[in-house]
Amino acid sequence: MVYKKIGQSNLNASVVALGTWAIGGGTWWGENNDMESIRTIHEAINQGINLIDTAPAYGFGHSEEVIGKAISDRRDKVLISTKCALRWTDEEGTFFFSVDGRNVYRNLSRRAIRDDLENSLRRLGTDYIDIYITHWQSAEPFLTPVSETMEALTELKKEGKIRAIGASNVNTNHIEEYIKYGQLDLIQEKYSIIDRRVEKDLLPLAKKHNITFQAYSPLEQGLLTGKIRKDYVPVKGTARYDQKCFKPENLPKVVDMVDSWKDLCIKYNCTPTHLAIAWLLAQGNHMNVLCGARKTEQLEENMKGAEITLDLADIARIRENALSLDF
Ligand SMILES: NC(=O)c1ccc[n+]([C@@H]2O[C@H](COP(=O)([O-])OP(=O)(O)OC[C@H]3O[C@@H](n4cnc5c(N)ncnc54)[C@H](OP(=O)(O)O)[C@@H]3O)[C@@H](O)[C@H]2O)c1
Repeated sequence: MVYKKIGQSNLNASVVALGTWAIGGGTWWGENNDMESIRTIHEAINQGINLIDTAPAYGFGHSEEVIGKAISDRRDKVLISTKCALRWTDEEGTFFFSVDGRNVYRNLSRRAIRDDLENSLRRLGTDYIDIYITHWQSAEPFLTPVSETMEALTELKKEGKIRAIGASNVNTNHIEEYIKYGQLDLIQEKYSIIDRRVEKDLLPLAKKHNITFQAYSPLEQGLLTGKIRKDYVPVKGTARYDQKCFKPENLPKVVDMVDSWKDLCIKYNCTPTHLAIAWLLAQGNHMNVLCGARKTEQLEENMKGAEITLDLADIARIRENALSLDF
């Protein structure tokens, strides 16, 4: 495994990180075997993944609780990132969505951040968070200026409760504001071979400011692994249902594209999953790839993506393949 600094912090993280949205279960991902999730987290740590990402909203605390159990005897071996902003315990904030009978509001006020952090620390059974990330940005009508958010986060850093600050689902203005008021070390954004919207401005801006760019949903929730076939139909309400690539008119095109990489898989002695991860890591020295996995075999496969260095011609060819998908 390769390790790199997170932004300008002194945290040294594996370039492939473990995402635990699915481990939270609920309507988005269905029910889980928590013991299997814990085994997967242990295996990740044993094999060298030292960054695990979660959020209160993943199963309304369940993902954090499962991680808390998994790391109770090995907290010092792992970096934990969790998030603030998405809240369901009171109605202050800007309404965002409803799921599993709960209304979720965006709130990045000082009070909300402090409350979120205390709840995460309790569920995770720890007294500090390594990277604390604003999950979604504040929006009208309950708009908190980034200055207040960043001040609150910087206070928590001074108190030793968090070690680095990240932001997710941002635009360039958000980044400019964050760095105006403090030190931003990571941004977490959706990025994959077939969803390259961030390349226009966020990816170069992160590089310019020495901010780690962490790509989420890098496998398009399993579609780029080649294991989801053309007859797959996502269930309404689940995480894959609203994704563009899972729409019936698009999914077969992606499956064909992934199948067309057989020669690359032979050349690199690898799987499409490895190509999807290695391709992202090739997009800059500041890249970190956040792959979800709830089974040990998925995790083991995903880690190996960091071991492959693609030739420039193959990186370009994969991009060309993706550009030819017209959605
Ligand atoms: N900041 C944000 O707003 C945001 C949004 C989304 C995600 N995230 C973070 O990013 C992480 C990753 O994103 P993601 O979970 O949406 O998508 P992803 O990493 O692209 O896909 C994860 C899913 O793909 C399947 N999978 C993973 N490895 C596989 C393998 N080797 N072979 C076959 N299938 C495999 C699994 O599905 P099954 O479990 O169904 O088998 C897994 O749950 C999340 O867990 C979360 O931590 C953050």
